[in-house]
Amino acid sequence: MRISTLVATSIGCAQAFVLPQAFFDAFAAPAPVADASLWPHKPYFLKHNVDPDTFPDEIQLEELNATALDLYHIAESSNGTYGHPTRVIGSPGHWKTLGYILHQFDQMRDYYDVTVQSFKALNGKVSHYDLNYTNGEAVPSAQAFSLSPPVEPFVGTLVEIPNLGCSDADFEALEISKDSIALIERGECPFGQKSTLAGKHGFKAVVIYDNDPKSKKGISGTLEKPTKHTVSTIGVSFAVGQKLIAGIELDPEFSLFFYMDSFVKKVKTKNIIADTKHGDPDNIVALGAHTDSVAAGPGINDDGSGTISLLTVAKHLSDYKINNKVRFAFWAAEEEGLVGSNYYVEKLSPEENQKIRLFMDYDMMASPNYQFQVYDANNIDNPRGSEELKNLYIDYYTSHGLNYTLIPFDGRSDYVAFINHGIPGGGIAAGAEGINTDNGKVLDRCYHELCDDVNNLNWEAFLTNTQLIAYSVANYAHSLKEFPERETNTSSVLSSASAPKYPYKGGANLLL
Ligand SMILES: *[C@@H]1O[C@H](CO)[C@@H](O)[C@H](O)[C@H]1NC(C)=O
Ligand SMILES: *[C@@H]1O[C@H](CO)[C@@H](O)[C@H](O)[C@H]1NC(C)=O
Ligand SMILES: *[C@@H]1O[C@H](CO)[C@@H](O)[C@H](O)[C@H]1NC(C)=O
Ligand SMILES: *[C@@H]1O[C@H](CO)[C@@H](O)[C@H](O)[C@H]1NC(C)=O
Ligand SMILES: *[C@@H]1O[C@H](CO)[C@@H](O)[C@H](O)[C@H]1NC(C)=O
Ligand SMILES: [Zn+2]
Repeated sequence: MRISTLVATSIGCAQAFVLPQAFFDAFAAPAPVADASLWPHKPYFLKHNVDPDTFPDEIQLEELNATALDLYHIAESSNGTYGHPTRVIGSPGHWKTLGYILHQFDQMRDYYDVTVQSFKALNGKVSHYDLNYTNGEAVPSAQAFSLSPPVEPFVGTLVEIPNLGCSDADFEALEISKDSIALIERGECPFGQKSTLAGKHGFKAVVIYDNDPKSKKGISGTLEKPTKHTVSTIGVSFAVGQKLIAGIELDPEFSLFFYMDSFVKKVKTKNIIADTKHGDPDNIVALGAHTDSVAAGPGINDDGSGTISLLTVAKHLSDYKINNKVRFAFWAAEEEGLVGSNYYVEKLSPEENQKIRLFMDYDMMASPNYQFQVYDANNIDNPRGSEELKNLYIDYYTSHGLNYTLIPFDGRSDYVAFINHGIPGGGIAAGAEGINTDNGKVLDRCYHELCDDVNNLNWEAFLTNTQLIAYSVANYAHSLKEFPERETNTSSVLSSASAPKYPYKGGANLLL
Protein backbone atom coordinates (compact mmCIF):
# COMPACT_ATOMS: atom_id res chain seq x y z
CA MET A 1 0.00 0.00 0.00
CA ARG A 2 1.23 3.43 -0.82
CA ILE A 3 0.26 5.93 1.83
CA SER A 4 0.20 8.92 -0.51
CA THR A 5 -2.44 7.57 -2.91
CA LEU A 6 -4.38 6.25 0.02
CA VAL A 7 -4.76 9.71 1.56
CA ALA A 8 -5.40 11.43 -1.76
CA THR A 9 -8.20 9.08 -2.78
CA SER A 10 -9.85 9.07 0.58
CA ILE A 11 -10.29 12.83 0.36
CA GLY A 12 -11.87 12.38 -3.07
CA CYS A 13 -14.19 9.85 -1.56
CA ALA A 14 -15.35 12.16 1.23
CA GLN A 15 -16.16 14.87 -1.30
CA ALA A 16 -18.02 12.40 -3.42
CA PHE A 17 -20.62 11.93 -0.76
CA VAL A 18 -21.39 15.63 -1.00
CA LEU A 19 -21.56 15.48 -4.80
CA PRO A 20 -23.32 12.25 -5.80
CA GLN A 21 -22.61 12.54 -9.54
CA ALA A 22 -18.87 12.96 -9.00
CA PHE A 23 -19.05 10.03 -6.66
CA PHE A 24 -20.44 7.77 -9.34
CA ASP A 25 -17.99 9.11 -11.90
CA ALA A 26 -15.06 8.52 -9.60
CA PHE A 27 -15.86 4.85 -9.49
CA ALA A 28 -16.80 4.37 -13.13
CA ALA A 29 -13.24 3.37 -14.03
CA PRO A 30 -11.58 0.32 -12.47
CA ALA A 31 -10.39 1.28 -9.03
CA PRO A 32 -6.65 1.88 -8.60
CA VAL A 33 -4.64 -0.62 -6.61
CA ALA A 34 -4.51 1.26 -3.33
CA ASP A 35 -8.28 1.67 -3.19
CA ALA A 36 -8.72 -1.70 -1.57
CA SER A 37 -7.35 -0.32 1.68
CA LEU A 38 -9.58 2.74 1.78
CA TRP A 39 -11.82 3.13 4.74
CA PRO A 40 -14.72 3.63 4.54
CA HIS A 41 -15.18 1.87 1.22
CA LYS A 42 -17.82 2.41 -1.39
CA PRO A 43 -21.09 0.96 -0.11
CA TYR A 44 -21.72 -2.55 -1.42
CA PHE A 45 -24.94 -1.66 -3.24
CA LEU A 46 -23.06 0.88 -5.38
CA LYS A 47 -20.46 -1.63 -6.54
CA HIS A 48 -20.52 -3.13 -10.03
CA ASN A 49 -20.98 -6.82 -10.62
CA VAL A 50 -17.65 -8.57 -11.03
CA ASP A 51 -16.89 -9.26 -14.69
CA PRO A 52 -14.67 -12.33 -15.22
CA ASP A 53 -13.44 -11.00 -18.56
CA THR A 54 -12.06 -7.69 -17.28
CA PHE A 55 -11.33 -8.46 -13.63
CA PRO A 56 -8.01 -10.30 -14.22
CA ASP A 57 -6.52 -7.22 -15.94
CA GLU A 58 -6.62 -5.33 -12.67
CA ILE A 59 -3.84 -7.47 -11.24
CA GLN A 60 -0.57 -5.55 -11.50
CA LEU A 61 3.02 -6.72 -11.18
CA GLU A 62 3.87 -3.87 -8.79
CA GLU A 63 1.51 -5.07 -6.10
CA LEU A 64 2.75 -8.66 -6.37
CA ASN A 65 6.31 -7.38 -6.08
CA ALA A 66 5.56 -5.13 -3.10
CA THR A 67 3.88 -7.97 -1.18
CA ALA A 68 6.71 -10.40 -2.05
CA LEU A 69 9.24 -7.94 -0.60
CA ASP A 70 7.09 -7.61 2.54
CA LEU A 71 6.97 -11.40 2.95
CA TYR A 72 10.73 -11.69 2.54
CA HIS A 73 11.32 -9.06 5.24
CA ILE A 74 8.86 -10.94 7.43
CA ALA A 75 10.86 -14.15 6.85
CA GLU A 76 14.02 -12.31 7.96
CA SER A 77 12.52 -11.86 11.40
CA SER A 78 13.40 -15.56 11.92
CA ASN A 79 17.12 -14.82 11.45
CA GLY A 80 17.61 -14.51 15.20
CA THR A 81 16.32 -17.98 16.03
CA TYR A 82 16.94 -19.92 12.77
CA GLY A 83 20.06 -18.18 11.48
CA HIS A 84 18.38 -17.41 8.17
CA PRO A 85 15.02 -16.25 6.79
CA THR A 86 12.19 -18.77 7.13
CA ARG A 87 8.45 -18.87 7.60
CA VAL A 88 8.26 -22.41 9.01
CA ILE A 89 5.42 -22.95 11.51
CA GLY A 90 6.25 -21.71 14.99
CA SER A 91 8.91 -19.29 13.73
CA PRO A 92 8.67 -15.50 14.11
CA GLY A 93 8.50 -15.35 10.30
CA HIS A 94 5.38 -17.52 10.22
CA TRP A 95 3.61 -15.71 13.04
CA LYS A 96 4.30 -12.41 11.33
CA THR A 97 3.00 -13.79 8.03
CA LEU A 98 -0.29 -14.55 9.80
CA GLY A 99 -0.31 -11.08 11.36
CA TYR A 100 0.30 -9.52 7.97
CA ILE A 101 -2.64 -11.38 6.38
CA LEU A 102 -4.94 -10.46 9.28
CA HIS A 103 -3.88 -6.83 8.97
CA GLN A 104 -4.69 -6.79 5.25
CA PHE A 105 -8.13 -8.24 5.83
CA ASP A 106 -8.77 -5.85 8.69
CA GLN A 107 -8.57 -3.06 6.14
CA MET A 108 -11.34 -4.79 4.19
CA ARG A 109 -13.51 -5.62 7.18
CA ASP A 110 -16.65 -4.26 5.52
CA TYR A 111 -16.27 -6.94 2.84
CA TYR A 112 -14.80 -9.99 4.59
CA ASP A 113 -15.52 -11.95 7.76
CA VAL A 114 -12.31 -13.46 9.05
CA THR A 115 -11.97 -16.46 11.32
CA VAL A 116 -8.83 -17.96 12.77
CA GLN A 117 -8.59 -21.66 13.53
CA SER A 118 -5.91 -22.97 15.92
CA PHE A 119 -4.47 -26.45 15.81
CA LYS A 120 -1.26 -28.27 16.60
CA ALA A 121 1.20 -29.77 14.18
CA LEU A 122 4.42 -31.67 14.57
CA ASN A 123 7.51 -29.85 13.54
CA GLY A 124 10.94 -31.39 13.47
CA LYS A 125 14.40 -30.61 12.34
CA VAL A 126 17.33 -32.86 11.50
CA SER A 127 20.46 -30.77 12.06
CA HIS A 128 22.99 -33.47 11.36
CA TYR A 129 23.23 -37.19 10.71
CA ASP A 130 25.86 -39.78 9.85
CA LEU A 131 25.52 -43.31 8.52
CA ASN A 132 29.02 -44.76 8.06
CA TYR A 133 30.72 -48.05 7.50
CA THR A 134 33.00 -48.93 10.42
CA ASN A 135 36.00 -47.78 8.35
CA GLY A 136 34.57 -44.25 8.60
CA GLU A 137 33.41 -44.09 5.01
CA ALA A 138 29.91 -42.63 4.60
CA VAL A 139 27.18 -44.99 3.35
CA PRO A 140 26.16 -43.53 -0.03
CA SER A 141 22.65 -42.16 -0.68
CA ALA A 142 21.80 -41.95 3.05
CA GLN A 143 19.08 -39.43 3.85
CA ALA A 144 17.46 -38.86 7.22
CA PHE A 145 13.68 -39.13 7.41
CA SER A 146 12.00 -35.99 8.63
CA LEU A 147 10.45 -36.14 12.10
CA SER A 148 13.19 -38.58 13.12
CA PRO A 149 13.99 -38.49 16.82
CA PRO A 150 17.68 -38.03 17.71
CA VAL A 151 20.13 -40.76 18.72
CA GLU A 152 23.61 -40.47 20.25
CA PRO A 153 26.47 -41.73 18.07
CA PHE A 154 26.80 -45.52 18.29
CA VAL A 155 28.02 -48.54 16.35
CA GLY A 156 25.23 -51.06 15.92
CA THR A 157 24.86 -54.52 14.40
CA LEU A 158 22.74 -54.42 11.26
CA VAL A 159 19.86 -56.93 11.26
CA GLU A 160 17.83 -57.67 8.14
CA ILE A 161 14.11 -57.73 8.96
CA PRO A 162 12.09 -60.45 7.18
CA ASN A 163 9.16 -59.43 4.99
CA LEU A 164 8.58 -55.69 5.03
CA GLY A 165 8.67 -54.93 8.74
CA CYS A 166 5.01 -53.98 8.83
CA SER A 167 3.82 -56.30 11.63
CA ASP A 168 4.96 -57.46 15.06
CA ALA A 169 5.42 -60.94 13.64
CA ASP A 170 8.27 -59.69 11.43
CA PHE A 171 10.27 -58.73 14.54
CA GLU A 172 9.15 -61.18 17.24
CA ALA A 173 11.40 -64.10 16.29
CA LEU A 174 14.58 -62.01 16.21
CA GLU A 175 17.16 -62.18 18.99
CA ILE A 176 19.09 -58.95 19.02
CA SER A 177 21.73 -57.19 21.07
CA LYS A 178 20.97 -53.81 22.61
CA ASP A 179 22.79 -51.76 19.95
CA SER A 180 21.05 -53.07 16.85
CA ILE A 181 19.97 -51.35 13.66
CA ALA A 182 17.02 -52.75 11.69
CA LEU A 183 17.42 -52.96 7.91
CA ILE A 184 13.96 -52.88 6.30
CA GLU A 185 12.76 -52.77 2.71
CA ARG A 186 10.42 -49.97 1.64
CA GLY A 187 6.82 -50.94 0.91
CA GLU A 188 3.35 -52.04 2.09
CA CYS A 189 3.11 -49.76 5.14
CA PRO A 190 4.19 -46.21 6.03
CA PHE A 191 7.82 -45.55 6.98
CA GLY A 192 6.68 -44.45 10.44
CA GLN A 193 5.07 -47.82 11.10
CA LYS A 194 8.30 -49.69 10.28
CA SER A 195 10.30 -47.37 12.53
CA THR A 196 7.82 -47.64 15.41
CA LEU A 197 7.67 -51.44 15.24
CA ALA A 198 11.47 -51.65 15.18
CA GLY A 199 11.72 -49.36 18.21
CA LYS A 200 9.07 -51.35 20.04
CA HIS A 201 11.08 -54.52 19.50
CA GLY A 202 14.30 -53.07 20.87
CA PHE A 203 16.08 -51.61 17.83
CA LYS A 204 17.97 -48.40 18.42
CA ALA A 205 17.70 -47.13 14.82
CA VAL A 206 16.39 -48.09 11.39
CA VAL A 207 17.74 -48.08 7.85
CA ILE A 208 15.05 -48.36 5.15
CA TYR A 209 16.17 -49.22 1.62
CA ASP A 210 14.26 -48.35 -1.52
CA ASN A 211 12.36 -51.06 -3.39
CA ASP A 212 12.83 -49.39 -6.76
CA PRO A 213 16.03 -50.52 -8.52
CA LYS A 214 15.72 -47.62 -10.98
CA SER A 215 15.83 -44.90 -8.34
CA LYS A 216 19.43 -44.03 -7.49
CA LYS A 217 18.70 -41.18 -5.10
CA GLY A 218 17.74 -42.97 -1.91
CA ILE A 219 14.53 -42.13 -0.10
CA SER A 220 13.43 -38.84 1.31
CA GLY A 221 10.33 -39.14 3.42
CA THR A 222 8.78 -38.52 6.77
CA LEU A 223 7.93 -40.65 9.77
CA GLU A 224 4.69 -38.64 9.81
CA LYS A 225 3.31 -39.28 13.29
CA PRO A 226 6.10 -40.42 15.59
CA THR A 227 5.10 -42.36 18.71
CA LYS A 228 7.10 -43.04 21.85
CA HIS A 229 8.57 -46.12 20.14
CA THR A 230 9.66 -44.38 16.92
CA VAL A 231 13.43 -44.46 16.44
CA SER A 232 15.92 -42.52 14.36
CA THR A 233 15.52 -43.56 10.71
CA ILE A 234 17.66 -43.14 7.60
CA GLY A 235 16.76 -44.12 4.02
CA VAL A 236 19.15 -45.49 1.37
CA SER A 237 18.83 -46.47 -2.29
CA PHE A 238 17.95 -49.94 -3.56
CA ALA A 239 21.56 -50.64 -4.65
CA VAL A 240 22.98 -49.63 -1.27
CA GLY A 241 20.34 -51.79 0.43
CA GLN A 242 21.56 -54.80 -1.59
CA LYS A 243 25.17 -54.05 -0.57
CA LEU A 244 24.18 -53.94 3.09
CA ILE A 245 22.35 -57.26 2.79
CA ALA A 246 25.45 -58.78 1.18
CA GLY A 247 27.50 -57.39 4.10
CA ILE A 248 25.24 -59.13 6.62
CA GLU A 249 25.38 -62.39 4.67
CA LEU A 250 29.20 -62.31 4.76
CA ASP A 251 29.44 -61.26 8.40
CA PRO A 252 26.59 -61.67 10.93
CA GLU A 253 28.27 -58.97 13.06
CA PHE A 254 28.27 -56.48 10.17
CA SER A 255 27.88 -53.04 11.81
CA LEU A 256 27.29 -49.41 10.94
CA PHE A 257 28.04 -46.15 12.70
CA PHE A 258 24.79 -44.21 13.23
CA TYR A 259 24.24 -40.70 14.56
CA MET A 260 21.37 -38.25 14.39
CA ASP A 261 21.06 -34.79 15.89
CA SER A 262 17.41 -33.73 15.60
CA PHE A 263 14.29 -32.70 17.44
CA VAL A 264 10.55 -33.27 17.09
CA LYS A 265 8.10 -30.95 18.78
CA LYS A 266 4.43 -30.03 18.75
CA VAL A 267 3.77 -26.51 17.52
CA LYS A 268 0.56 -24.54 17.84
CA THR A 269 -0.35 -22.68 14.68
CA LYS A 270 -3.35 -21.23 12.83
CA ASN A 271 -5.38 -21.29 9.62
CA ILE A 272 -6.95 -18.03 8.50
CA ILE A 273 -10.28 -18.13 6.65
CA ALA A 274 -11.72 -15.00 5.04
CA ASP A 275 -15.29 -15.19 3.70
CA THR A 276 -16.97 -12.50 1.67
CA LYS A 277 -19.93 -11.12 3.61
CA HIS A 278 -21.95 -11.12 0.42
CA GLY A 279 -22.83 -13.80 -2.08
CA ASP A 280 -24.95 -16.92 -1.70
CA PRO A 281 -23.81 -18.66 1.50
CA ASP A 282 -25.10 -22.01 0.22
CA ASN A 283 -22.82 -21.90 -2.82
CA ILE A 284 -19.30 -21.17 -1.69
CA VAL A 285 -16.33 -20.77 -4.01
CA ALA A 286 -13.27 -21.76 -1.98
CA LEU A 287 -9.60 -21.31 -2.75
CA GLY A 288 -6.45 -21.68 -0.71
CA ALA A 289 -2.71 -21.22 -0.41
CA HIS A 290 -0.37 -22.17 2.41
CA THR A 291 1.25 -19.58 4.64
CA ASP A 292 4.13 -21.70 5.96
CA SER A 293 7.48 -22.48 4.38
CA VAL A 294 9.95 -25.24 5.14
CA ALA A 295 12.60 -24.44 7.76
CA ALA A 296 15.38 -24.23 5.15
CA GLY A 297 14.30 -20.94 3.62
CA PRO A 298 11.84 -18.06 3.28
CA GLY A 299 9.48 -19.88 0.87
CA ILE A 300 8.70 -16.90 -1.33
CA ASN A 301 7.66 -19.05 -4.29
CA ASP A 302 6.54 -21.96 -2.07
CA ASP A 303 4.04 -20.74 -1.15
CA GLY A 304 4.57 -17.04 -0.65
CA SER A 305 3.46 -16.69 -4.25
CA GLY A 306 0.07 -18.35 -3.66
CA THR A 307 -0.43 -16.35 -0.49
CA ILE A 308 0.34 -13.13 -2.37
CA SER A 309 -1.96 -14.09 -5.25
CA LEU A 310 -4.85 -14.72 -2.87
CA LEU A 311 -4.30 -11.48 -0.95
CA THR A 312 -4.11 -9.50 -4.18
CA VAL A 313 -7.23 -11.07 -5.68
CA ALA A 314 -9.09 -10.60 -2.37
CA LYS A 315 -8.27 -6.89 -2.39
CA HIS A 316 -9.49 -6.35 -5.92
CA LEU A 317 -12.58 -8.47 -5.43
CA SER A 318 -13.65 -6.19 -2.59
CA ASP A 319 -14.50 -3.52 -5.19
CA TYR A 320 -17.23 -5.70 -6.65
CA LYS A 321 -20.63 -7.18 -6.16
CA ILE A 322 -20.75 -10.98 -6.35
CA ASN A 323 -23.43 -13.66 -6.56
CA ASN A 324 -21.70 -16.49 -4.72
CA LYS A 325 -19.78 -16.33 -1.48
CA VAL A 326 -16.01 -16.59 -1.84
CA ARG A 327 -13.81 -18.19 0.80
CA PHE A 328 -10.09 -17.39 0.86
CA ALA A 329 -8.23 -19.96 2.97
CA PHE A 330 -4.69 -19.52 4.24
CA TRP A 331 -3.47 -22.90 5.47
CA ALA A 332 -0.71 -23.47 7.98
CA ALA A 333 1.49 -26.55 8.38
CA GLU A 334 1.12 -27.66 4.78
CA GLU A 335 4.80 -28.56 4.79
CA GLU A 336 4.34 -30.70 7.90
CA GLY A 337 1.86 -32.99 6.12
CA LEU A 338 -1.09 -30.88 4.85
CA VAL A 339 -2.07 -30.53 8.49
CA GLY A 340 -4.02 -27.25 8.39
CA SER A 341 -6.20 -28.08 5.39
CA ASN A 342 -6.91 -31.57 6.73
CA TYR A 343 -7.85 -30.17 10.11
CA TYR A 344 -10.16 -27.65 8.49
CA VAL A 345 -12.02 -30.10 6.26
CA GLU A 346 -12.34 -32.72 8.98
CA LYS A 347 -13.95 -30.15 11.27
CA LEU A 348 -16.63 -29.22 8.70
CA SER A 349 -20.13 -30.45 9.50
CA PRO A 350 -21.83 -32.33 6.63
CA GLU A 351 -23.98 -29.20 6.04
CA GLU A 352 -20.94 -26.92 5.83
CA ASN A 353 -19.19 -29.39 3.57
CA GLN A 354 -22.17 -29.46 1.16
CA LYS A 355 -22.11 -25.68 0.77
CA ILE A 356 -18.60 -25.68 -0.68
CA ARG A 357 -19.05 -26.04 -4.42
CA LEU A 358 -15.34 -26.36 -5.21
CA PHE A 359 -11.85 -25.85 -3.82
CA MET A 360 -9.01 -24.36 -5.87
CA ASP A 361 -5.43 -24.95 -4.72
CA TYR A 362 -2.76 -22.36 -5.51
CA ASP A 363 0.67 -23.57 -4.47
CA MET A 364 3.86 -22.29 -6.22
CA MET A 365 2.72 -19.78 -8.83
CA ALA A 366 6.03 -18.24 -9.89
CA SER A 367 8.72 -20.92 -10.31
CA PRO A 368 11.83 -19.51 -12.01
CA ASN A 369 11.97 -22.08 -14.86
CA TYR A 370 8.19 -22.46 -14.89
CA GLN A 371 5.71 -24.39 -16.91
CA PHE A 372 2.00 -23.73 -16.69
CA GLN A 373 0.94 -26.87 -14.88
CA VAL A 374 -2.67 -27.93 -14.43
CA TYR A 375 -3.60 -30.71 -12.03
CA ASP A 376 -4.98 -33.58 -14.09
CA ALA A 377 -8.26 -34.02 -12.22
CA ASN A 378 -11.26 -35.85 -13.64
CA ASN A 379 -14.85 -36.63 -12.73
CA ILE A 380 -14.38 -40.38 -12.39
CA ASP A 381 -11.59 -40.56 -9.80
CA ASN A 382 -12.37 -37.17 -8.25
CA PRO A 383 -15.61 -35.53 -7.12
CA ARG A 384 -17.80 -34.38 -9.99
CA GLY A 385 -16.84 -30.86 -11.06
CA SER A 386 -13.07 -31.41 -10.74
CA GLU A 387 -12.88 -31.92 -14.49
CA GLU A 388 -14.81 -28.73 -15.26
CA LEU A 389 -12.36 -26.83 -13.06
CA LYS A 390 -9.41 -28.40 -14.87
CA ASN A 391 -10.95 -27.33 -18.17
CA LEU A 392 -11.37 -23.76 -16.96
CA TYR A 393 -7.60 -23.54 -16.45
CA ILE A 394 -6.84 -25.22 -19.77
CA ASP A 395 -9.21 -22.90 -21.64
CA TYR A 396 -7.64 -19.87 -20.01
CA TYR A 397 -4.08 -20.80 -20.94
CA THR A 398 -5.09 -21.89 -24.42
CA SER A 399 -7.10 -18.74 -25.13
CA HIS A 400 -4.09 -16.67 -24.06
CA GLY A 401 -1.81 -18.57 -26.45
CA LEU A 402 0.07 -20.26 -23.62
CA ASN A 403 1.23 -23.86 -23.42
CA TYR A 404 0.24 -25.89 -20.41
CA THR A 405 1.18 -29.33 -19.09
CA LEU A 406 -1.01 -31.68 -17.10
CA ILE A 407 0.54 -32.92 -13.88
CA PRO A 408 -0.59 -35.73 -11.57
CA PHE A 409 -3.33 -34.85 -9.12
CA ASP A 410 -1.68 -37.17 -6.62
CA GLY A 411 -1.73 -35.66 -3.20
CA ARG A 412 1.14 -33.19 -2.90
CA SER A 413 -0.82 -30.15 -1.76
CA ASP A 414 -3.81 -28.92 0.23
CA TYR A 415 -6.53 -30.10 -2.17
CA VAL A 416 -6.24 -33.64 -0.77
CA ALA A 417 -8.63 -33.24 2.15
CA PHE A 418 -11.24 -31.63 -0.08
CA ILE A 419 -11.38 -34.28 -2.77
CA ASN A 420 -11.22 -37.00 -0.14
CA HIS A 421 -14.33 -35.48 1.44
CA GLY A 422 -16.34 -35.23 -1.77
CA ILE A 423 -15.59 -31.61 -2.65
CA PRO A 424 -14.54 -30.99 -6.27
CA GLY A 425 -11.01 -29.68 -6.49
CA GLY A 426 -8.10 -28.79 -8.68
CA GLY A 427 -5.51 -26.15 -9.19
CA ILE A 428 -2.48 -24.90 -11.03
CA ALA A 429 1.23 -24.74 -10.21
CA ALA A 430 4.42 -23.55 -11.86
CA GLY A 431 6.69 -26.42 -10.84
CA ALA A 432 8.80 -27.75 -7.98
CA GLU A 433 11.77 -30.16 -8.16
CA GLY A 434 10.57 -31.73 -11.42
CA ILE A 435 12.09 -31.13 -14.84
CA ASN A 436 10.78 -28.60 -17.36
CA THR A 437 9.92 -30.74 -20.40
CA ASP A 438 10.74 -27.84 -22.74
CA ASN A 439 14.35 -27.32 -21.66
CA GLY A 440 15.34 -30.29 -19.49
CA LYS A 441 16.19 -28.12 -16.48
CA VAL A 442 14.66 -28.20 -13.03
CA LEU A 443 11.52 -26.06 -12.69
CA ASP A 444 12.42 -24.48 -9.35
CA ARG A 445 16.09 -24.86 -8.49
CA CYS A 446 15.40 -23.23 -5.10
CA TYR A 447 12.53 -25.55 -4.15
CA HIS A 448 12.62 -25.96 -0.36
CA GLU A 449 15.99 -24.15 -0.22
CA LEU A 450 17.34 -20.98 1.31
CA CYS A 451 17.42 -19.31 -2.11
CA ASP A 452 13.61 -19.39 -2.46
CA ASP A 453 13.59 -15.61 -2.04
CA VAL A 454 12.22 -12.72 -4.10
CA ASN A 455 14.87 -13.26 -6.79
CA ASN A 456 13.56 -16.79 -7.26
CA LEU A 457 10.22 -15.55 -8.63
CA ASN A 458 9.46 -15.50 -12.32
CA TRP A 459 7.33 -12.41 -12.81
CA GLU A 460 5.69 -13.47 -16.07
CA ALA A 461 4.47 -16.70 -14.52
CA PHE A 462 3.45 -14.90 -11.34
CA LEU A 463 1.39 -12.30 -13.17
CA THR A 464 -0.25 -14.76 -15.57
CA ASN A 465 -1.11 -17.21 -12.82
CA THR A 466 -2.46 -14.54 -10.49
CA GLN A 467 -4.59 -13.21 -13.32
CA LEU A 468 -5.85 -16.73 -13.89
CA ILE A 469 -6.66 -17.02 -10.18
CA ALA A 470 -8.53 -13.73 -10.46
CA TYR A 471 -10.40 -15.17 -13.42
CA SER A 472 -11.28 -18.38 -11.59
CA VAL A 473 -12.61 -16.45 -8.61
CA ALA A 474 -14.55 -13.91 -10.67
CA ASN A 475 -15.98 -16.59 -12.93
CA TYR A 476 -17.39 -18.75 -10.14
CA ALA A 477 -18.26 -15.82 -7.86
CA HIS A 478 -20.32 -14.50 -10.74
CA SER A 479 -22.00 -17.79 -11.59
CA LEU A 480 -21.96 -21.47 -10.77
CA LYS A 481 -24.84 -22.24 -13.10
CA GLU A 482 -22.64 -24.14 -15.56
CA PHE A 483 -20.79 -25.95 -12.79
CA PRO A 484 -22.05 -29.38 -11.68
CA GLU A 485 -24.09 -29.51 -8.50
CA ARG A 486 -22.48 -31.20 -5.52
CA GLU A 487 -23.20 -34.90 -5.38
CA THR A 488 -25.69 -35.17 -2.56
CA ASN A 489 -25.13 -38.84 -2.00
CA THR A 490 -23.69 -38.52 1.48
CA SER A 491 -22.92 -42.21 1.72
CA SER A 492 -20.47 -41.89 -1.15
CA VAL A 493 -19.03 -38.74 0.45
CA LEU A 494 -18.64 -40.54 3.74
CA SER A 495 -17.18 -43.67 2.25
CA SER A 496 -14.60 -41.60 0.38
CA ALA A 497 -13.80 -39.83 3.65
CA SER A 498 -13.17 -43.04 5.53
CA ALA A 499 -11.10 -44.52 2.72
CA PRO A 500 -9.13 -41.61 1.27
CA LYS A 501 -8.13 -42.22 -2.33
CA TYR A 502 -5.25 -39.79 -2.08
CA PRO A 503 -3.39 -40.26 1.16
CA TYR A 504 -0.19 -38.30 0.83
CA LYS A 505 2.50 -40.89 0.52
CA GLY A 506 6.21 -40.56 0.37
CA GLY A 507 6.38 -37.83 2.91
CA ALA A 508 6.98 -34.23 3.72
CA ASN A 509 9.79 -33.88 1.21
CA LEU A 510 7.31 -34.58 -1.56
CA LEU A 511 4.83 -31.95 -0.50
CA LEU A 512 4.80 -28.74 -2.47
C1 LIG B 1 10.23 -4.76 -7.08
O1 LIG B 1 10.39 -3.60 -6.27
C2 LIG B 1 11.74 -3.28 -5.95
C3 LIG B 1 11.75 -2.15 -4.95
O2 LIG B 1 10.95 -1.10 -5.37
C4 LIG B 1 12.47 -2.96 -7.25
O3 LIG B 1 13.83 -2.71 -6.96
C5 LIG B 1 12.36 -4.16 -8.20
O4 LIG B 1 12.94 -3.84 -9.43
C6 LIG B 1 10.90 -4.52 -8.41
N1 LIG B 1 10.82 -5.74 -9.21
C7 LIG B 1 9.92 -5.90 -10.17
C8 LIG B 1 9.95 -7.19 -10.89
O5 LIG B 1 9.11 -5.05 -10.47
C1 LIG C 1 19.00 -12.68 7.45
O1 LIG C 1 19.88 -13.71 7.02
C2 LIG C 1 20.23 -13.69 5.63
C3 LIG C 1 21.22 -14.81 5.38
O2 LIG C 1 20.67 -16.06 5.53
C4 LIG C 1 20.89 -12.37 5.26
O3 LIG C 1 21.13 -12.35 3.87
C5 LIG C 1 19.99 -11.22 5.66
O4 LIG C 1 20.66 -10.01 5.41
C6 LIG C 1 19.61 -11.31 7.12
N1 LIG C 1 18.66 -10.25 7.39
C7 LIG C 1 18.69 -9.51 8.50
C8 LIG C 1 17.66 -8.46 8.62
O5 LIG C 1 19.49 -9.69 9.39
C1 LIG D 1 31.17 -40.51 8.98
O1 LIG D 1 31.26 -40.05 7.64
C2 LIG D 1 31.30 -38.67 7.50
C3 LIG D 1 31.22 -38.35 6.02
O2 LIG D 1 32.21 -39.04 5.30
C4 LIG D 1 32.54 -38.13 8.18
O3 LIG D 1 32.56 -36.72 8.09
C5 LIG D 1 32.51 -38.55 9.65
O4 LIG D 1 33.70 -38.13 10.29
C6 LIG D 1 32.37 -40.03 9.79
N1 LIG D 1 32.18 -40.32 11.20
C7 LIG D 1 32.77 -41.34 11.79
C8 LIG D 1 32.56 -41.50 13.28
O5 LIG D 1 33.46 -42.14 11.19
C1 LIG E 1 4.18 -24.29 -27.26
O1 LIG E 1 4.72 -25.55 -27.56
C2 LIG E 1 4.99 -25.73 -28.92
C3 LIG E 1 5.40 -27.19 -29.14
O2 LIG E 1 6.25 -27.64 -28.11
C4 LIG E 1 6.07 -24.74 -29.35
O3 LIG E 1 6.34 -24.90 -30.73
C5 LIG E 1 5.58 -23.32 -29.08
O4 LIG E 1 6.59 -22.40 -29.36
C6 LIG E 1 5.15 -23.18 -27.64
N1 LIG E 1 4.51 -21.89 -27.46
C7 LIG E 1 4.82 -21.07 -26.47
C8 LIG E 1 4.03 -19.80 -26.40
O5 LIG E 1 5.67 -21.32 -25.65
C1 LIG F 1 -24.81 -43.58 -3.09
O1 LIG F 1 -23.46 -44.00 -3.19
C2 LIG F 1 -23.27 -45.35 -2.82
C3 LIG F 1 -21.78 -45.62 -2.80
O2 LIG F 1 -21.12 -45.01 -3.88
C4 LIG F 1 -24.04 -46.24 -3.80
O3 LIG F 1 -23.85 -47.58 -3.44
C5 LIG F 1 -25.52 -45.87 -3.74
O4 LIG F 1 -26.22 -46.61 -4.70
C6 LIG F 1 -25.71 -44.37 -4.01
N1 LIG F 1 -27.10 -44.02 -3.76
C7 LIG F 1 -27.78 -43.22 -4.58
C8 LIG F 1 -29.19 -42.91 -4.15
O5 LIG F 1 -27.31 -42.77 -5.60
ZN1 LIG G 1 3.85 -25.44 -1.14
